Amino acid sequence: MIISVLNQKGGCGKTTIAVNLAALWHDQGRQTLLMDADPQRSASRWAEQGNQGGFPFPVHSLDMTLGARKVKAEIQAVVGGREMVVIDCPPELREPAMLASLLSDLVVVPVTPSPLDIWAAEAATGLAQDARELNTQGRPRVLLVPSKTHPQTLLTRDLGKALTALGEEVSPVGISQRVALAECVIQGQTINQYAPNSPACEELTRLSHHILTLLGG
Ligand SMILES: Nc1ncnc2c1ncn2[C@@H]1O[C@H](COP(=O)(O)OP(=O)(O)OP(=O)(O)O)[C@@H](O)[C@H]1O
Ligand SMILES: [Mg+2]
Repeated sequence: MIISVLNQKGGCGKTTIAVNLAALWHDQGRQTLLMDADPQRSASRWAEQGNQGGFPFPVHSLDMTLGARKVKAEIQAVVGGREMVVIDCPPELREPAMLASLLSDLVVVPVTPSPLDIWAAEAATGLAQDARELNTQGRPRVLLVPSKTHPQTLLTRDLGKALTALGEEVSPVGISQRVALAECVIQGQTINQYAPNSPACEELTRLSHHILTLLGG
């Protein structure tokens, strides 16, 4: 299964969600590979932090500008028998994002609770819908995931309603703004390594389960 985490909005939580989903699926015994498709190399640099020698699952750099045939061949060459492939996309909606969408079973769109970000999510959703139009088997599905939310605020409460209006599935599990999710990066750790009993880890675990249920796995 290929899951792309995509949104042109910078800093909405793509890398945080991509890395931790990969980490949790790995922890749940699923062979997982993280593809870092962002020239910023955020996921790769995160893995290089600290003195652990990387994440316990592979992170592979993927140059999405090489075009469909080469990217597809590269994924096939590195995927081996792995069950879960997570692609962390750059903050843009150009050809690489379309290519990632075309290759994916699911496009995860993290959305922060602000009207500006909901407009951005509409464009990201539209791109994934265009990819689905071009594909033949109803793929990719889209999952809109509330990200960096503050549970007590009106904006967060309204987010679900605004996302539902985009006509795609809205995750019942949102990822709250939690300091542990920023701190674990400094240590080069994923949330299940850094704070396994934290509410942040619990939310991401629930999201990982929800996605597997959605994809029938
Ligand atoms: N739920 C969260 N709680 C606290 N901090 C978060 C959360 N999600 C992301 N962050 C922090 O916000 C910043 C941006 O997050 P992240 O890098 O995951 O976003 P991104 O969408 O991948 O950014 P880019 O568009 O640059 O690729 C980082 O410092 C990250 O640690
Ligand atoms: Mg990123």
